[in-house]
Amino acid sequence: MRHFLTLDDFTKEELIEILNIAFDIKAEIKNGIIKHRMRDKSLAMIFEKSSTRTRVSFEVGITQLGGHALFLSSRDTQLGRGEPIKDTARVISRMVDMVMIRTFKQCDVEEFAAYSKVPVINGLTDEFHPVQLLADYMTMIEHNKANHPKVAYIGDGNNMAHSWLMLASKMGFDLSIATPKGYEVDKDILNRALKNAKISAAKISITDDPKIAIKDADVVTTDTWASMGQEDEKRQREIDFRGFKIDSSLMKLAKKDAIFLHCLPAYRGQEVSEEVLEGPQSVIFDEAENRLHAQKGIMLWLDTHRS
Ligand code: CP
Ligand code: NVA
Repeated sequence: MRHFLTLDDFTKEELIEILNIAFDIKAEIKNGIIKHRMRDKSLAMIFEKSSTRTRVSFEVGITQLGGHALFLSSRDTQLGRGEPIKDTARVISRMVDMVMIRTFKQCDVEEFAAYSKVPVINGLTDEFHPVQLLADYMTMIEHNKANHPKVAYIGDGNNMAHSWLMLASKMGFDLSIATPKGYEVDKDILNRALKNAKISAAKISITDDPKIAIKDADVVTTDTWASMGQEDEKRQREIDFRGFKIDSSLMKLAKKDAIFLHCLPAYRGQEVSEEVLEGPQSVIFDEAENRLHAQKGIMLWLDTHRS
């Protein structure tokens, strides 16, 4: 049995298999074909943080596959009152067919998976957001930006930056990350990516200068400066991230036909200007829709790889 906890748990070939499933079922649904490949299966969705896209896309996704989702907020379950993860995992996984978790610590998702009888999917932790990156890569493929592209990530060295490192180093493309001093990516995750990059021939570079990172990029992306759980740091971060907003003048340094991605929610006037977010290079709503298709691909792949 396999879990989907980080992109690093998968080979490039496996990630392509999942993407192919996602593209096939996206085409089917666009042609009005609905196949209940996970008929009567239940997906438990545990949320310890807020969500719009992840909740809706997983719930609709499993429904379209003929299954059913349970929304479990830590506010309403015993998990929020201190029931251990290992007990929760053993109870829930005896009743459902798959679990998706959004929480703070990556080690909590890993502990849940270690005790679970069914596949577990990481729906975002402080360290990683792997399901988002599969949707992002799908969007790059659809916009012809997956053939040895240069991707520029400008912003916080957070879960999205880490996931871009994992994706680039697996798929073998160029990634340039610009973070302000003091907000760099995690060193261990960077080293893992650099190790993978030796095999995939990915080129990874790190700078504190957004202009260097964005130069001649095919794909430009960013994320909020203050992630969930960092609300108290918001004002300080607005000061520390000055010069990191992706606006039209910065965008001009990328290739003319570059696309702009953002996992959303976006904060206009902070990490990205209204003009770029709403402009012709922005494909953020294609990207958001692809969450649905990519995650159906992940669920189906995990379901067919159960022993
Ligand atoms: N991008 C993303 O995961 O959005 P939500 O927080 O709304 O799920
Ligand atoms: N980095 C953001 C991503 C939200 C989808 C966060 O963790 O809040």
